[in-house]
Amino acid sequence: MPTTNPTDTDLSAQAREILLKNDRGGYTVPTHGLYPYQWNWDSAFVALGFAAFDSDRAWTEIETLFQGQWTNGMVPHILFRVNDPGYFPGPSVWQCDPARSGAAMPTSGITQPPVAASCVRELWEQEGCRRDHPRMKALFPKLMAYSRWYRRHRDPMGNGLAMVVHNWETGRDNNPEWDEALAAVDTSRVGPYTRKDTSHVNSAMRPTKQEYDRYVALVEFGRAQGWDPAVIARENPFRVIDVGITMMLLRADRDLLVLAHALNEQEAIAELQAHIARAEAGVAFLWDESIGGFSSYDLRACKSAQILSSASFLSFYAGVGDERQRATQLLQLQRVSQDCRYLLPSLAPGSRTYDPMRYWRGPVWLVVSYMVAKGLREAGHHEWAHRIQEDSRNLIRTAGFYESFNPETGAGTGGPDFSWTAAMWLHWCGA
Ligand code: DGY
Repeated sequence: MPTTNPTDTDLSAQAREILLKNDRGGYTVPTHGLYPYQWNWDSAFVALGFAAFDSDRAWTEIETLFQGQWTNGMVPHILFRVNDPGYFPGPSVWQCDPARSGAAMPTSGITQPPVAASCVRELWEQEGCRRDHPRMKALFPKLMAYSRWYRRHRDPMGNGLAMVVHNWETGRDNNPEWDEALAAVDTSRVGPYTRKDTSHVNSAMRPTKQEYDRYVALVEFGRAQGWDPAVIARENPFRVIDVGITMMLLRADRDLLVLAHALNEQEAIAELQAHIARAEAGVAFLWDESIGGFSSYDLRACKSAQILSSASFLSFYAGVGDERQRATQLLQLQRVSQDCRYLLPSLAPGSRTYDPMRYWRGPVWLVVSYMVAKGLREAGHHEWAHRIQEDSRNLIRTAGFYESFNPETGAGTGGPDFSWTAAMWLHWCGA
């Protein structure tokens, strides 16, 4: 029987099916097998996908995510609602006890990009910007507490930039931005462990064993400190300003400010305005003239990572950069677009460590493409926004709902039937 390509209508139906299949009852796993729990930024983006056909379920996704919030305001990167032996490192490795964290379940001890506030603003706007929206109102103090946690524990220079203490916090796990800082992490005390990720997908698409040892060493360090955020912020062997989280946090605070105005929360308005002003001025520090872009910064070695990644282009999403910096970023985008077929690769193709198959060292991830395109559109760069959206659509048409995509061939990389890719089709790039 001749096979025909699915139509866009078929793809929309498939996207909905993926979300429903990955729904574990109020929360969604990123994909079956590889990631069997609730992940922080995955859930926030997934809510946007549900909103296309079930707004009640969309709000529930964010509400269940905040059941994992710690008393100190942090929202962990993984919520372990069940114990799944198919994932490493699971709850027994992290040892984050709900009795101490205040979360409703065991969780990991680190966070992830704080995009929940921006997604809540989207859900709220889609429903008509009602000032008395009860679910938005109930989430608002929790979102504020999360933003405050970042400002209190992850702004060591007091200038609005966001520090990470594990590369997993960035969500862009093995981007070479972390290579040098990770190389300084001592792995000599890491005991034997069994990875599970490489039993789910081809190891050529995952971080290497040497990289993983460092990831595990950082978990062991945090655990030995009882996950005390103050000690970790001071002494962690990996302390890096992440350009990605810095931009997403600034954007989240801008979106929270819109919600604060709607709720007439005067104290929160003043607080957010101060955060925003500080970060707007602070990001200038991340501009690296040698690469012509915003870059992450290693606080221990006091040096820029000197890497142009897809996160560099989030400056548009954050609404920062002076005229010359914006023009330079657009030239960089032009260059990247000439070097690969599909925008936006996670790493510029000319980079030494670029690998179109390996996780965050080259593949396209649609959630980053979405944020960058949104920022570009808001800044008036409609053609670029359109190009990124078209490429994203074509990647799904070509390969399906993969975790990520090879920017040269369009082939799917990582796991299949991925929730946030389905969500991006439904919310943003589906025709
Ligand atoms: C993993 O297990 O690879 C995740 O990215 C960690 O969050």
